[in-house]
This record gives sequence, structure tokens and C-alpha cells, in this order.
Amino acid sequence: MLGLVRRRGAVPADEVIDLALYSDGGFYGAGGSAGRRGDFLTSPEVGPLFGVLVGRALDGWWQALDEPDPFVVVEGGAGAGALARSVLAAGPACSPALRWVCVERAARLRATASATLPVEPPAQVLGGPSRGGPVVTVVDDLPRGPFTGVVLANELLDNLPPVIAERTEAGWGEVRVGEEAGRLVELVVPSAELARPLARWAGGAPPGSRVPLARRADRWVERAKASLDAGWVVCIDYGAPTTAELAERGFAGWLRTYRGHGRGGGWLDDLGRQDITCDVPADQLQPATIEPQAEWLRRLGIDELTGTARHAWQERAAIGDLMALRARSRVAEAAALTDEGGLGRFLVLSWPVGGVAATPAATA
Ligand SMILES: C[S@@+](CC[C@H](N)C(=O)[O-])C[C@H]1O[C@@H](n2cnc3c(N)ncnc32)[C@H](O)[C@@H]1O
Repeated sequence: MLGLVRRRGAVPADEVIDLALYSDGGFYGAGGSAGRRGDFLTSPEVGPLFGVLVGRALDGWWQALDEPDPFVVVEGGAGAGALARSVLAAGPACSPALRWVCVERAARLRATASATLPVEPPAQVLGGPSRGGPVVTVVDDLPRGPFTGVVLANELLDNLPPVIAERTEAGWGEVRVGEEAGRLVELVVPSAELARPLARWAGGAPPGSRVPLARRADRWVERAKASLDAGWVVCIDYGAPTTAELAERGFAGWLRTYRGHGRGGGWLDDLGRQDITCDVPADQLQPATIEPQAEWLRRLGIDELTGTARHAWQERAAIGDLMALRARSRVAEAAALTDEGGLGRFLVLSWPVGGVAATPAATA
């Protein structure tokens, strides 16, 4: 990175983060991932229950669209394919029509997904003649469409690097990365260009505060919307309903680093060896609906599934067989997915496309 900064001068923070995460030697390029053996645990990696509930949501959307065949589900930032695997294993009613497209930028994770899912060539899944589903493929970027279905992304938007803006006495500045005595340092460069959007999203932020400008996330959502002729874009992520809340949360509160299931160091430390992630400022992306994950999962029936599992565990605990253990683990998974201090307070953001209803999840 020092070489790049020496060649180019101060480099925008979002470019530095992009290289740190996605270049060949970057965090995702070289080894980082979600999962128990990875660096952080996401909802699909908690266990199979999240996939069961996403399968229910898919059935609701499929039925609301009059059961199209094919029903295309594009999963952005699919990682190693955990969500696809658990949805396919749950066998939702839409399965015969289902064409699931894992979109993953990191080649290493695409290879793992391809090795663990029954994948077919993209042309077969995206353009081939109608045939029995589910069929799955893995690609490196959003397909163009137009499709009828859903573009889904769990914890993708937080990994699309933000422009970092700082309120100064004179207006707004952009955080860039320069060099001082052979080390990477932050520089705040005045930016008239940022003033307009930031007046809208963070007009009241006092001097010294920092906010993210989620331009890459916004572009991704716009591309996802453009790939649908009818359906929903649904993104699940941590963040805040407003940019103003993030200004109050403070820079260290909304830009975080992770590695090996713990918090990492400063964002410029150990570039490429830790995840760098940003709370999503939902207002900038203008979703039609925002709902906490815990509420969304309740509408999809998580309490009923947990009640059945709790009952099974109580009945079979003394036997201690596989069914008893599965039931116990389902109860634990449900608690993690709805934890108000963790995954349960993630935001489910949705954008309807093509005149469909604005609801983020009709249950089957
Ligand atoms: C935090 S991980 C989430 C993985 C998975 N969705 C989960 O919930 O376990 C984010 C993933 O998005 C991928 N990613 C980042 N930018 C992307 C893009 N523009 N298109 C596709 N994948 C992307 C990363 O490589 C990484 O695997």
C-alpha cells in the first residue's frame, strides 16, 4: 500500500479498504471468511435454522409473484455458500422452480462454494430452457437479468467500502490515506463535492464527527434493482436507520475491524489481515421497508419452530439421541438469531421492483 501511496499521493479511504479486502493478498482474497473456523459468525453460519426461515420467506415471495418458473434467487456476497446449502436442504415449496445464483467476489470462496454445492454452468442456470429445480450456479458479479425473483444479501453491504467523510470547521473533508515517516496515516482533504450529499444525510453533525457515505453500497443496490423485472431486493446487515445516528455513534463505533472471532486493530493496521466493515447508513440507500431481523424472523415463524424444538428436547433429553441434540441446537440457534444485542437487531432492508407489494416477507 505504501508503494501505491508514494506513486499516487493521498488515496481515498474506500479504495484502500477495497484493496485491503479484495486484492489477491487482501483479507477475503487470501483467507478471511465467515464461519466457525473463519473470522466472524453470520446468521447462515450459526446453523441450518436461518436457511429454513429464508426458505419460508422465499415461498412467500414466490407465491406473491404467482409462482413463476423459473424463480431466480441471486445471493450477493454468498461467501462459501452456507445460505444456499441450508435453503436447499430445507426444501422450500418453490424448489422445483428455484434457480439460485451465488455471487461472490473472492475466487477462493467461489471455489469452496462450487465444491460444496451441486453447481451447474451459469448459462444453464441463467438462460437455459425451463427444467426441474433447484439448480445452482456460482458467479463473480451480479448477472444482468432481467429476472423474476429476489436478490438477497446477508452481510454484504457492510463490506462495500464507504467514502469516509469528516465534518470540519470549514465544511466537509474526505479521509484519505497518505504517508508520514514510512507509515500510512489518515489525511483529511477538503471536499466541496461531498458537501451536497452530506448536507442531506448529516447536516447537523458537529465539527470533528465522521460519517460513511455508502456510494458503493448504493450502486450495488441500484444494480440489483435493475436486474429484476419483478420481485424484491432484500439486504440484511448491521447499521442504523439514519446517518445522523452513525455520526453520534462515532467513527470507532461504525467502522470496525475483525479477525479470528475477535475485534482487530486500527483500520490502517495490518491491512489485508483483518476484515474492515462499516455499519450501513440505511437512509442513504432509501429502502421501502426496514425491520429488525428478530421481528422478521418472528413473522416467518421462528417462535413456533423453537417451541416445537424445545418440546422435542424436553421429551428426548433423557434419551440424548440425534433428534434430541438437533432440537437443543435449534433452540440455541434461535436465541442467537433473535438476540437483541447481536444478530436480532440487524436490519432487514427491502426494495420492491416492478409494482409488487412493499412487504419484506410474506410468510408461506
Ligand atoms: C461478511 S461476508 C458474508 C458472507 C455470507 N453472506 C454470510 O452471511 O455468511 C461478505 C462477503 O461478500 C463478498 N463480497 C464483497 N463484495 C462483493 C461484491 N461486490 N460482489 C459479490 N460478493 C462480494 C466478500 O468476498 C465476502 O465473502
